[in-house]
Amino acid sequence: MTSNDSATSGDSAPAPLPPSPFAPQLFQGKRVFITGGGTGLGLEISRRLASLGAHVMIGSRNKDHHESFLAEAKAEGWSASAHVLDVRKLGDIADLVRELTADGPVDMLVNNAAGNFVCPAERLSEGAWRAVLGIVLDGTFYCTREFGKSMIANGGGVMLNVVATYAWTGMPGVVHSASAKAGVLAMTRTLAVEWARHKIRVNAIAPGPFESEGASGNLWPDGDVKARLMAGIPAGRFATASEVADHAVWLLSGASDYVTGECFTMDGGASLGRGMWEPGERVR
Ligand code: COA
Repeated sequence: MTSNDSATSGDSAPAPLPPSPFAPQLFQGKRVFITGGGTGLGLEISRRLASLGAHVMIGSRNKDHHESFLAEAKAEGWSASAHVLDVRKLGDIADLVRELTADGPVDMLVNNAAGNFVCPAERLSEGAWRAVLGIVLDGTFYCTREFGKSMIANGGGVMLNVVATYAWTGMPGVVHSASAKAGVLAMTRTLAVEWARHKIRVNAIAPGPFESEGASGNLWPDGDVKARLMAGIPAGRFATASEVADHAVWLLSGASDYVTGECFTMDGGASLGRGMWEPGERVR
């Protein structure tokens, strides 16, 4: 089921947004739906788009995850709404799209909702595989199809999918997520061509590790794992969620109007080859 929320308070105030490199009111008059838009990277994208004038609609299963964004939106005077949604439920998505488009076209969709945890493939249960494939691959397709139909009817739109570099490099421990993200990447490229005639752009971003509650709880639960991950990043640091959000904003904006079917990696060089020598080793 879906429902409108309007929160009056949040538990803790988020860190202030850093100055935006984009023009104020860049998205004035635009309406965007963001799955998982109340937490982690989704929240950062929601905040940035709302601060640039978009009407931001977020959807996620847990109503508690709406509170922070709605409270900030109220305090900042942003235009926002939140909707309870499980992206694995196609019927609920169709109902929500009908409800939202009754108020006007939805111009942009960000497929950000994800589920992930590290688990050796030989121990991954059918339910665990299905949960992640269901959220990441099925959920992205269901939202894409339903919002896509409304964009086709309205003469166009922009979609952005959040993937990961392990969609093509692979990564031990996350076969479920890697398989699902690879599917989303194929979906991105397929629909970029299939829907270009409907003036719908479909792109993806592949952020490397960035600081977020979900990532630190699941992907680097202890300092050792974090240090090892960091050692593999030529830039020597993780991205900030706000940097990744700005990257997403560019791909949603008119500045990238001729870009479609593309996947932009933003990982400080982590997924690139390092050759046979350490940087500088053979240079005297
Ligand atoms: N390791 C191994 N298996 C796990 C697991 C873990 N850390 N977390 C969940 N599972 C398994 C469950 O045991 C269950 O298996 P079963 O069907 O054999 O009993 C299956 O996955 C489904 O789990 P459940 O919690 O019922 O599913 P859900 O649909 O409610 O949620 C997730 C699935 C992935 C979203 C949930 O585990 C979760 O909240 N993960 C952390 C949040 C997250 O992933 N954030 C995104 C970071 S990129």
